[in-house]
Amino acid sequence: MVETSHLIDEAIEKLQTEIDDTAIIACSGGIDSSVAAVLANSAVGDLLHCVYVDTGLMRKNETEEVERMLSELGINLTTVYAADRYFEALVGVTDPEEKRHIIGELFIRIFEDEQKKVGAKYLVQGTIAPDWIESGGGERDVIKSHHNVGGLPDDVDLIIVEPLRDFYKDEVRQMARSLKIPSSERQPFPGPGLAVRVLGEITPERTEVCREACAIVEEELEAAAAAGLMEIPWQYFAALLPVRSVGVHGDVRVHGETVVVRAVQSIDGMSARYSTIPNEVLEKISIKITNTLKGDINRVVYDITHKPPGTIEWE
Ligand code: XMP
Repeated sequence: MVETSHLIDEAIEKLQTEIDDTAIIACSGGIDSSVAAVLANSAVGDLLHCVYVDTGLMRKNETEEVERMLSELGINLTTVYAADRYFEALVGVTDPEEKRHIIGELFIRIFEDEQKKVGAKYLVQGTIAPDWIESGGGERDVIKSHHNVGGLPDDVDLIIVEPLRDFYKDEVRQMARSLKIPSSERQPFPGPGLAVRVLGEITPERTEVCREACAIVEEELEAAAAAGLMEIPWQYFAALLPVRSVGVHGDVRVHGETVVVRAVQSIDGMSARYSTIPNEVLEKISIKITNTLKGDINRVVYDITHKPPGTIEWE
């Protein structure tokens, strides 16, 4: 702990020498950006503007939780509610790469607007060592954006400040614990949010179905782990598949889509093994999803693919 507090003090002192004017940071509520925001906030206080973009692709209650967490950490946050813009931009798009590109581009545009509003000179980023080492290690070849897709434009007129650049995930996690940042204990969540879990067209309705299914998977697996029935997976969620199959409601045959449950054990996300979940827990998840999402979902399946050859997310 003593060592971690030293790292924190040093990072804050360095930020104080680096930032002498208005700075901006995009904070997703994830561990890296939250630690960077807290350090920068401790270093320069009111000079820091923290922006959180609600894309409409967040988990259940996520925006409220991130707002509460950052407010409790004393950070002055601007939330940009942009769900309508995201869903409009995604109408009719089904190609996974195109979706990621649209989401990344829109994020940049929204962030640039906020940057202009506050006249920021510095951009604080939560880039950690593996982010740039794995990508070639060039000076500016990886500007980790909130989404890690699209990045920031080449002509970005901001001075980049990266307080976590020399740290690895476990060190950042220790810093987060020491700084009392709750997201240090949360499972990873991809930058593009639920977009990578809604296969096919992303509509507000289908996103809501995926969000609810994810919440059920989280709730049931956390309850099962707390009851000692299984180990908590490293990552666990649901994805919505555009696969229609027939089901019965009473004596009526209806077509509904499919939810796939994904739960994996992993160290760092680079490789993963699917988690073994007791049958009674899987059954509970299936019944809860089909009851809660009656009319939308009539089939629940469990993904038993390791990574490789699969990936953790479905898109
Ligand atoms: P895959 O699906 O590639 O994911 O096995 C490995 C880990 O990375 C997360 N993931 C992302 N995280 N931006 C992120 O910040 C992304 O675009 C992205 N895509 C996948 C995924 O949730 C898993 O933890």
